[in-house]
Amino acid sequence: MCGIVGYSGKNEASSILVEGLSKLEYRGYDSAGVAILDDGKINVSKCKGRLVNLENKLKSSPLKGNVGIGHTRWATHGEPSDVNAHPHNNNDNTISVVHNGIIENYMELKSWLKSKGYKFVSETDTEVIPNLIDYFYNGDLLDAVMKAISKVEGSYALGVVCSNEPNKIVAVRKDSPLIVGAGKDENFIASDVPAILNHTRDIYYLKDKEFAVLTSEGVEFYSNEGEKIEKELNHIEWDANAAEKGGYEHFMLKEIYEQPKAIKDTMTSRIIEDQPIKLDDINITKEQIENIEKIYIVACGTAYHAGIVGKYAIEKLARIPVEVDIASEFRYRNPIITKNTLMIVLSQSGETADTLAALREAKSLGARVIAITNVVGSSVSREADDILYTWAGPEIAVASTKAYTTQLITMYILALFFAQNKNTLTNEEIENIKADMLKLPEKAKEVLDNKERVQKFASNTYMHKDMFYLGRGIDYAVAMEGALKLKEISYIHSEAYAGGELKHGTIALIENGTVVVALATQNDLYEKMVSNIKEVTTRGAKVLGITVEGRTGMDEFVDSVIYVPKVNDILLPVLSVIQLQLLAYYVSVEKGCDVDKPRNLAKSVTVE
Ligand code: F6R
Repeated sequence: MCGIVGYSGKNEASSILVEGLSKLEYRGYDSAGVAILDDGKINVSKCKGRLVNLENKLKSSPLKGNVGIGHTRWATHGEPSDVNAHPHNNNDNTISVVHNGIIENYMELKSWLKSKGYKFVSETDTEVIPNLIDYFYNGDLLDAVMKAISKVEGSYALGVVCSNEPNKIVAVRKDSPLIVGAGKDENFIASDVPAILNHTRDIYYLKDKEFAVLTSEGVEFYSNEGEKIEKELNHIEWDANAAEKGGYEHFMLKEIYEQPKAIKDTMTSRIIEDQPIKLDDINITKEQIENIEKIYIVACGTAYHAGIVGKYAIEKLARIPVEVDIASEFRYRNPIITKNTLMIVLSQSGETADTLAALREAKSLGARVIAITNVVGSSVSREADDILYTWAGPEIAVASTKAYTTQLITMYILALFFAQNKNTLTNEEIENIKADMLKLPEKAKEVLDNKERVQKFASNTYMHKDMFYLGRGIDYAVAMEGALKLKEISYIHSEAYAGGELKHGTIALIENGTVVVALATQNDLYEKMVSNIKEVTTRGAKVLGITVEGRTGMDEFVDSVIYVPKVNDILLPVLSVIQLQLLAYYVSVEKGCDVDKPRNLAKSVTVE
């Protein structure tokens, strides 16, 4: 949801900002722009469309200067256009602002500023901010930003420059991510670490309503009350190459192929043969686990789908009732929460506004919250009572892949941890599941090494307008994720249905040639699923069946079968989803879509 970056140093700001924006384009790509201070003036270059348009513009009209801010936009208020692109300036172009978030009271602020004589050129909510800062400006940019922020409702990460204080960037955040990078004679702000990883690994995480003032010489931090504060410096260990394509055509393909390693990393030190599961980063006690009456798993999109698999795992292994909720629904439905309610939030980015709001709602009602997230230091990880990191490494493609499979692994770990504490499984049963979990990296690699069938099915079906995904039980949860992957990157209409539900209406849509992907991996549901598959094949559907190696006969009644290696049934989603990720990927490539940056989407959804 928009990416922002800022630089104050001794080098040319323009190229550093554009390079940073290229690492943030996953957050939005409707327009891009920079504002650079030069000789007491702010020069802005911005335009609609991908970053490459801005790069071309800057090639023909370069901007000089060592201090600047940049932005890549995911449009909310105002269509994607040159004029709505950030940065936005005050009326006399002495103050420039980049913003990620939504100013909820901007209409009110806009009419108030208009009554004071301010003029507006864009349709954005953001434009009120430079004008509000201008209104309060009295020779001290930090003071003016603080006063302006006190009038603003909503979410924001802001980078602000002012031509009267030409070496400086003032930054602040609330409910939108923002980090500060400390370099040698240069300092940075960014929405996310990869944007500045080529320049520094020393990062400060800003908390809500903390302010940073950056110059080339250093960074100072202030509380919302204007008091100077000290902040802890964090050193990032990631390999910078982890955020590069590394020879793959797309980030999505690279991330699909990274899954064997990501799955292994998620289990490291947590799942060890013949040793009880120990979760160092979790403080919940055995007694608290025994007292849990109900678990809510709350998340959005792909993470929500991982939560549904989590429900099956926890209910089956630990016998605790679980309800899975979409975060944007949960927070407005007055959920029943007691001190014995546990909430698990799942979020790759740890910044999703709806998930964060649901977490806060549950905490305020007295629930304990465990966060499963991929991003160290993210808002969700800071606010939850316990954290389980998924350790998938940076996920850049908008369509989530390795984040999902590692979320599944984390859910299994948690389910087994609860089972161990509640004695709902014997040691032997736990050890058997763990043994199969430890095989998953190798089995995932086998799936990836045998991608030809799914690739062929993609090349035969990519021109279809609709696809249906069917499954029963845990396969239904995987079907939902498969359908989401396909629709988001190939724009093919796809829906998932529980196999037994089809006959209650949807089967009316099945006709000659309709494409159906049918998951039949679960032993206890196989025969039932076969009947459901036959219901669609007899009506002319073209079916891709997914089942487990060693099961024969499916090729007699479907068009194509792909197999996943055999492991404990409950773990099969980790393997079957890889086939569905590959299917979506190859369909998208065949259709010539922009795989990593699908239309209308952004990776980190920090607005409601
Ligand atoms: C789909 C996808 C989204 C995210 C959702 C939640 O491929 O990536 O559906 O899963 O926006 O994001 P996080 O996990 O960052 O909270």
